[in-house]
Amino acid sequence: MSKLQNALVSGVRAVLSQVPAGWLPGGTPDPLIDKRVSLGTQQTRVDGPLKVRGAARFAAEIPMSGLHYAAFVHSTIARGQIAEIDTAVAESAPGVCLVMTYRNAPKLAVVPPIGLSNLKAAGNNILPVMQDAQVRWNGQVVAVVVAQTQDQADHAATLVKVRYDPDPARTDFEAGKAHAHTPDSILIEKNRLLKGNASKALAEAEAACRVDAVYRTPWHNHNFIEPSAATIVWEGERLIIHDATQMLSATAASLAKVFGIKEQQVHVKSPYVGGGFGGKALWDHQILAAAAAKLAARPVRIVLSRAGVTRLIGGRTQTEQRVALAADAKGKLKALLHHGYSVKPKHSVCDEQYGLTGRSLYACDSLDIVQHHVDLDVVANTFMRGPGEAPGTFAIECAVDELAHQLAIDPIELRRRNAPECDPATGAPHSQSAMMLAYDQGAERFGWKRRSPVPRSRRKGEWLVGMGCATGTFPYVRMPGMSVRITLDARGFAHVASAAHEMGMGTATVQRQHAADRLGLPLDKVSVEIGDSSLPFGSFAGGSSQTASLGAAISAASSSLVGELLRIAGNDTPLAGIRASEVEYFAEGLRSRADPRRHETFASILKRARRDDVSATGASGAPLEMLKFAMHSTSAIFCELRVSEVTGEVRVDRLVGAFDCGRILNPQTATSQFKGGMIMGLGMALTEETLLDERNGRIMSTSLAEYHVPVHLDVPELEVLWTDIPDPRAPLGARGIGEIGITGVAAAVANAVFNATGKRIRQLPLTLDKILAP
Ligand code: MOS
Repeated sequence: MSKLQNALVSGVRAVLSQVPAGWLPGGTPDPLIDKRVSLGTQQTRVDGPLKVRGAARFAAEIPMSGLHYAAFVHSTIARGQIAEIDTAVAESAPGVCLVMTYRNAPKLAVVPPIGLSNLKAAGNNILPVMQDAQVRWNGQVVAVVVAQTQDQADHAATLVKVRYDPDPARTDFEAGKAHAHTPDSILIEKNRLLKGNASKALAEAEAACRVDAVYRTPWHNHNFIEPSAATIVWEGERLIIHDATQMLSATAASLAKVFGIKEQQVHVKSPYVGGGFGGKALWDHQILAAAAAKLAARPVRIVLSRAGVTRLIGGRTQTEQRVALAADAKGKLKALLHHGYSVKPKHSVCDEQYGLTGRSLYACDSLDIVQHHVDLDVVANTFMRGPGEAPGTFAIECAVDELAHQLAIDPIELRRRNAPECDPATGAPHSQSAMMLAYDQGAERFGWKRRSPVPRSRRKGEWLVGMGCATGTFPYVRMPGMSVRITLDARGFAHVASAAHEMGMGTATVQRQHAADRLGLPLDKVSVEIGDSSLPFGSFAGGSSQTASLGAAISAASSSLVGELLRIAGNDTPLAGIRASEVEYFAEGLRSRADPRRHETFASILKRARRDDVSATGASGAPLEMLKFAMHSTSAIFCELRVSEVTGEVRVDRLVGAFDCGRILNPQTATSQFKGGMIMGLGMALTEETLLDERNGRIMSTSLAEYHVPVHLDVPELEVLWTDIPDPRAPLGARGIGEIGITGVAAAVANAVFNATGKRIRQLPLTLDKILAP
């Protein structure tokens, strides 16, 4: 990837004109994109029955004989040294077999950081783990207690006495801005984007055609249903870890590096994950528990408490974003400036790439976009559903709404006048883009016509009623290296295997549909096995990339399998003498493209060859289509809500999301992805906020009592629809849908609050105090 990365970062787009268009060799679109057999139909989850019966075992539920339990002691200062640590009382507490501190922890290498240049790296918090007396953030683990029961471990952890020599710590965002730094790149894009002269265009615009405002979003923390957990055993020099992860292969490879053993000596299993959202990769807890298991010579389980998740697993960083828009009187954009600050400690890998949001959404002559990073002494911030785009769309889409109001142009019409014909920053052609169709379909379903453009003009008793809309967006990503093995057995059943991930999205369900259509098999003759690092290499379930990556891998494996089948078919087959490129999968076998009567089933081929099975592997190649085309999904989010004039309470009554994400592969699992994202967007809009005590870097909101996610009563009638236009450059025509659901929602809610009340709130969450403030 490093060559591709350099090409992008240095902006050498000319190189790309030589790259074949599309992801299949020769640039041909996927032949499956307009076939409708199993793909495109509603299919229930293959893992559903096991989950509803409670039979699916998650990382903290794996039975193991002689299992011991770990508990952590967390630092209470943000920076300094451990001056004294007294473990004697804890060591003699009932059931305790080990107290591990920096004084007795095994030597551990620093975890390799997640990044496109190393697909085998899973680290988020790139710091030494328990190797010295240094404290680097408030909440760092300073001691691990292992005991026979969880209660014994939890109790003994309270008996460890620590005295610190604190150093001055950097824990204040405002103070940190003064020495923020400006990185060269954000993910794989150049950070500062300058096109035309945006400052000049802004200064020259009429005051009425100009918006220049600062938007703020808070820290967010991960609150998966399943807290991070691992059950770990060493068998000699082999490390076996039942983990909850969205980075199986990279976790195995990274743990091997940390412990100085071979990759093959680490076995990570993670068939079911109870929600990940970007937060389930390799963090300190797996490393510490594995080290403790080694030292104690016993199997160890670590289950983080809600507070433990907050202290050890980073969240979405806070942002402060200035957005300035200038337009002519007709609403044509003349300038878009997007400048911002967010926290990224030097030991973090996550850029919180809100600066990428405004690069693709609207046509504009001049752009000036840059992000600045504030380095603080806090746990590494990390990816969280729609990283970058979730806060980025809040700022930009509120600003667009403000501009529409000033210009007295309908917000949808303003977007129509600025819908881009190609990538606004690079000029690259869209692979497929129908943002305004999503708006039109969504507006129709929602009843946008009923909206009054005049704020505070609808009322029901104490409730002010408002409507708002906003655009959501997320890029297409396909990861290289994702690998799959397809095995056909003697009965003609296909078995697909990959170290891929299931966090609740429907991975195996959809790829089973895919493999069935790819191989010309009925659904019940295909099984999919995922969630184990001993299977062919799996890139991460992140960046909404897994479906495209697996799609490309299954396609590649199916191509190799044709060669294998023809080889073992020999000469006594109707297919004799036909080249691999001249056959296709059809009716549980292969047939000649030129002469469809020449067909033989898999079962027949295997029987004649006296084979039990035949298999082939394939991998997702370099994602060249991402470089040549502008590939972004978009959505149009519509919100209707009420705001109480008495209490300032916001009740969202309706939320409609219309999505343009390429082809939808399974309406049932897709609906669940979109709705889940939109519900998370409601939390972002109204309640979610990590409370960080900036005096000492301590997070105060460490349970669901203080960190408010939407509950059933907060979630209104949700409707989702989609354009369902295949993207010819993406495997199966599908661009990925895991994250886009959250984007745009907070802006749609804020814009509806403005429409209801006339009050523009530029800081999330939209809590009562802000609404009631004079
Ligand atoms: Mo996603 S934030 O890449 O799981």
